[in-house]
This record gives sequence, C-alpha cells and structure tokens, in this order.
Amino acid sequence: MNPISDLIEKDPWRIVQKGFSDENNRKYESLMSIGNGHMGQRATFEEEYTGSTHSGSYMAGIYYPDKTRVGWWKNGYPEYFAKVINATNWIGISFKFNDEKLDLATARVSDFERVLDMRTGILTRSFIAVMQNGVKVQVAAKRFCSMAEREVGVVEYECTVLEGEGDLQIKPFLDGDVLNEDSNYDMKFWEETKKHTGNNEAYLEMKTKKLDFYLGSAMKFYLYKNKKEMPFTGHEQLRKKYAGVVLKKSFEPGDVFKVEKLVANCTSRDYNIADIEEKCHDAIARAHSLGSVQLEAAHLAHWTQTWKDCDIVIEGDVASQQAIRFNIFQLYQTYTGHDPRLNIGPKGFTGEKYGGSTYWDTEAYCLPFYMATTHQDVARTLLVYRYKHLPKAIENAEKLGFKDGAALYPMVTMNGEECHNEWEITFEEIHRNGAIAYAIYNYVNHTQDRVYLAEYGFEVLVGIARFWAQRVNWSEAKQQYVMLGVTGPNEYENNVNNNWYTNYLAAWCLRYTLEVAQYLKESHSNEFKTLCQKLAFDLEENAKAWMHISDNMHYPKMEGSDVYLQQEGYLDKENITCAELPLSERPLNQKWSWDRILRSPFIKQADVLQGFYFFADHFSLEELKANFDYYEPRTVHESSLSPCIHSVLASKLGYVDKAYDMFLRTSRLDLDDYNREVHEGLHITSMAGTWIALVQGFGGMRLEDDRLCFRPYVPKQWKGCAFSIVFRGVRVSVQCGEKHVQLSSNGPIEVKVWDEVITLDGNHPVEVSTKAIV
Ligand code: BGC
Repeated sequence: MNPISDLIEKDPWRIVQKGFSDENNRKYESLMSIGNGHMGQRATFEEEYTGSTHSGSYMAGIYYPDKTRVGWWKNGYPEYFAKVINATNWIGISFKFNDEKLDLATARVSDFERVLDMRTGILTRSFIAVMQNGVKVQVAAKRFCSMAEREVGVVEYECTVLEGEGDLQIKPFLDGDVLNEDSNYDMKFWEETKKHTGNNEAYLEMKTKKLDFYLGSAMKFYLYKNKKEMPFTGHEQLRKKYAGVVLKKSFEPGDVFKVEKLVANCTSRDYNIADIEEKCHDAIARAHSLGSVQLEAAHLAHWTQTWKDCDIVIEGDVASQQAIRFNIFQLYQTYTGHDPRLNIGPKGFTGEKYGGSTYWDTEAYCLPFYMATTHQDVARTLLVYRYKHLPKAIENAEKLGFKDGAALYPMVTMNGEECHNEWEITFEEIHRNGAIAYAIYNYVNHTQDRVYLAEYGFEVLVGIARFWAQRVNWSEAKQQYVMLGVTGPNEYENNVNNNWYTNYLAAWCLRYTLEVAQYLKESHSNEFKTLCQKLAFDLEENAKAWMHISDNMHYPKMEGSDVYLQQEGYLDKENITCAELPLSERPLNQKWSWDRILRSPFIKQADVLQGFYFFADHFSLEELKANFDYYEPRTVHESSLSPCIHSVLASKLGYVDKAYDMFLRTSRLDLDDYNREVHEGLHITSMAGTWIALVQGFGGMRLEDDRLCFRPYVPKQWKGCAFSIVFRGVRVSVQCGEKHVQLSSNGPIEVKVWDEVITLDGNHPVEVSTKAIV
C-alpha cells in the first residue's frame, strides 16, 4: 500500500515540516513529539491555536481508571480502562498585539517551519504571521524536555515585530483544564488543588479525580527585549485549573521580545503530596542556577551518549537513515529504564489511543531492542515489572475460573490488573502470556543472567505454564490436546479453535518451564527447594502432565504441505490474496464492516509467522518458505507490529526486495503515515520492531550454540550499514558494506559471521567478505 509520502522532508537527523498546514497539523504534532521518559508531549504550539490541534502532555505512570463503556456487558469485564492522561499544558505562552491574540488559525502565515532535531532532542518552530489587525511578527520557538533534569522542561519563544505598534500582552501560563479525547464519558480527569502566581512565576497543582495522583507544575520565566533582560510587572491571571501571569509592554517595529520559560513537573509518584510544590521549586532553582546554556548542554550530552551507543548508520539511503533514527529516538525518549515502575505504552507520550501502558508489545518487540542496545539491567527491569504483577495475573486468572496459581497476564494494564474490555481480546487473546515466558527465555539466552530464573523468572513461568495446562483440553475425537475459543495475534479472527501460534507457544512454554525447573534443581538447589514450597510445585508430577500436553498438542496443518494453519478452518475461507484488494478499500479496518473482516481471509499481522520468528531454529528454511509464501500475500499489515516480522523472515529467505519494502513500511510507518492514523499518535512499540528488522533481518543477528552470530547483507538500495550490539557486557560493532563486513568490540568475544568463527580481541577490527544471502 502506498504511503502518504510527502509529509516530511528526507533528512538524516531531522524531522522537518515546511509550510503551515492546519489540515495536517495533528499529524505533525504526533511526529515531532518530544519526551524524556518522565514526561512527554505532542509538538503543539506554545501560543494559543484555535485550529485543528490535539494538545497532549503526558506524565509517565499517571493514569486514570476510566469507567468501562461497552454496549453489552459481559461477566469478567474489568470495571475500568486505564488511560494515560492528558495533563497540565505547561508550554503555553500567549501573545496579544493590540488586543488580538496571535493565533495561526486566524493569521496569514508564511515561512512556517517546524523541526525536530533527533540528534539533540530539541523541537523548534519558526514562522511569519500577519495578524488580522495588520501586525506582522516573526517567531522562533524552541523547547525540550530535559534528559538531564527529567522534571524540567524549557521553552524559549522569541517574537520579532516586523510591522505595527501599540500594546503588547505576553502571558506565560499553566493550563490544567485539559480533556482526554478518548474519555469514555467526556469527563475531565483532573481537579485543581492549589494555584498561585508571583511576578514571574506560577504554580498549579492538580489531582486526579480517582487514584489521587498529584501533579505540581511550577513555572518561572524571564523576559528579554532586544537581547537584554527586561524588568516587568506581572499581573496575576487565575481561573479554574489555570494560572497565568500577564506582562504588558508596548511594541514597535524592530522590537525583539524573548520569553524564557522554565517549568518543573513533579508528581506524587515520586514525592509526598505535601512536598510536591517544594520539589518543583527546587527543580526550577537547580535549572535556573545551571542556566539555559548549561541546561541545554547537559541535555545534549545525554543524547550524544545515547547516539554514540545506539545509532545505526545507513549509507546511501536517506529515507532509511532518517527512519531508523526516528525509531530509536522515539524509543529512547519514551522509556529509558530509569524508573522500574514504568513500561512502554504503544503510543508513548504522543497520543491517547490504546490507554494503558503495557501490552505484549513490550516483551515481544521492545525487550530485544533494549536488551541489545543498552545495559542489560534495562531489560531485566522490564521483566521484573511483570514479576511484580504476578499476584494480579493470578487473580486475573482466578476471576476467569482458573486455579492453583495459574496466571493470566492482562492484555492491557497499568498496575497489573486487566483493563481491556472486548471479550474476544480480554478473554481470548491469551498468547500474550506466552510472549512473557518467551521474553524470559530470550533475556536469559542473550545475557546468560541465569540467576534471574531463580530470583524471579521461574515463578512467572510456573504461573503461565499452569494457565496453559488448564486452558487446553483433551479432545477425544482428535486424541490430542486442543485450545478452543482463542484469538491469535491476528485480531481479524476471533474465537477460533487451535490457533497454531498460541498452541505452539503454550506447548513450548510447558517444556521450557520444565527445563528451567530441572536447571534450578541442579544448579540452584536451595533456591529451588524454597521455590517449590512457595509455589507448591512438584517437578515430577508436573513433568509428566505437562510433557503429555506438550507432546500431544494439536497443530492444524494444510494437508500435503508444510503450511501450518493459522487456526482450524482457515482453509474454508475464500482463497484470495491482498493483490485482489483494491487500494480504495484499505485499510480494511477503516473501510469494511467488522463482520466482513472476520469472514475474510485477510490477516492483520504476523500470526503463524510470529511463531516462525520466535522459534526460528525449530523450523527448516523450506518450512519457513512455505509458510511465508502462503501467509504474506494474505496479510494486510494493519497492525504496526506486522511488517517488521515479515521483514526479518524475508531477509532470512533471501527475499531482499520484500525485506526492504517491509523495512520501509515498519520504519516509516508514521513518517509516511502508511496506516492513515498518525494524527492519533506514533506507534512507539513497533519502532522496536524496526530495529529488529534491521539488526536481525539485514544484520542476520541471532544466537547459535550460545554464540552471537551475524549473517549480514546490505539491501541494494544502501551502500552500507553500521550498528552495534551489547552482548553479555561486550559491545560488538558491525559495519557492513557491499563487499566486506568489519567487526570490532570493546572486549574479547568470539562471534560467528556466516559460518566463520571470529575472535575479537577488543582492540583490532576484523574484516570478512560478505556472502550472498541465501
Ligand atoms: C495489535 C496488538 C497490539 C496493540 C498495541 C493492536 O492493533 O493487534 O497486537 O498489542 O495493537 O500495539
């Protein structure tokens, strides 16, 4: 499917919008979102704007349990859907020239440019506006969410008068009167608890109506005229949930007014409620004493380090270069691992759709990215997050009738409780449980941190394995175990029997849990005894029952071929492929009725192929080829999580054009708005899939016999590509050209490139010739 490809210019480091567009404004607001792991926001305007905008400012971990709204209530539905909530708009600075507000919706705008510089994490905007009263101004605005001082945001707004004179009012403000666009009952989630202003400062404290999260926002600002700091008298402007300070000056052509606004956002997640205001003031004081130059330098230093570690350089293809950086940038401004209570929401800080923060996306897609780009503690933290939710996962399973410590992790969660409420997903899309088990396996393999299994992993595995053992049933007719009434990753099919991926994952999970149990018994016998007691776990008994299930699971298959059927009955569907779908009917989820989608053979995202990706070494190349050739043409990739998996598998099969197409589709999904929904926010979690497509697809990175291996190739659209991987404490850098691959490392390590084992000594690069892919 063709993207809308001209939203932004191709540039290796920047996301650039040239020219003002009210129609596309929300798209750019999403695309240029900024954040620092603690907070983030859409790239909305600092000045008031009455055009099309979605003013969104989000604080990590602050959510609202919005009362569930469904047409037909089903027993077992959660009472609420947890939403990441829109919080105080702290960037606001409004300008009034002779009583007319500067508002790009009513002014004549030219020379408009909005730029997100990914190298620095700084958002800038400039334009010329002629207001209805004839005043003409030139504006240059700049802001960032400090990576060094995470509670601090900095806004600089410079306004040059080109034509006109008279009275000017400048009003920096904090506005807590915000609404979530996805609020179920159009309810505003915040109430005000405190506000006051001073001459050049204001404080606004808000509290959520449920759960009592407090957010204090303090601002302090400075006014410069023609580059000199200028004294002023600030007039308080307060209204409900709003604190602003108005400065009155006169203006004439040539005047340059600049406002520097420092804001601190502190929350009750981090401090006692009574201390929040003081903490905000402390943060502002620290920021002020550093000064804007140093503050920016510290922010830059952080990004410089991140890029030094995680950058991927692509030669010869700016579209790919920009895209991979955009994906890495967004991931690292959403989640940095600094706060173990947080997770990675599908939209990060860029929009409200999807609520919640944690989906299977984290384990299946994001974990590999963090695990191989930074210190392994970050990946461990993500896993421990789920360990902490284990009691809730057990409760969740109990609510659905499971027992004896069986755990069903939620499809969507904030605090471990399920908050998703569509029966076909909440109750049926249970493969998410398997992804959590798989992530433990993946992490332990990659890092060799086996202690993790004794400390946390085993308990989670046992809970999940118990769930699978109870979720299957013995079919007399088939003389095999079956799993009925599930939804696989392909959400364009619900309530199916024997989804191959889910069955395969469940069977694997039972075996793996037993393997881990055996390992712990042998290598951590004391801890194992304690764990057996704690979990009432009997290895012998479970081994028998679980192996019986694992060995006798039913896997639907197409007769006479290597193709596993996505589910029972898949072959009854009309035998057509996406090639027969007119472009005008896509995306299906926006064009077709739901029942038509369900009846059709079209697949939303990798399903059988997701299994072939996870368990790559369980299948031969021929089997992969048969399944890829069958399913790819039927897949519409209407989940952002789909093209990346197809790209990796296509690389493995030597389908280089397909691999490249799918890479562009995953990496530029938002930049080029493939799925026509970027206005709602970015697909943050699938951005990790982009990294996977590059490093595991083109780079061919995998583990073989406990060794890091690469089978790198450069797509013909590129001249070269360089990336690095953290593996068991050593960073391995791979530079792949058309003819040669150069490897180096910062410590001794043996790696395999194609079939050659190479020893890297930590100092000297080693070069090998590339081989043709398949
Ligand atoms: C996908 C899910 C995914 C969710 C959040 C849905 O469209 O089908 O697999 O977990 O988006 O990214």
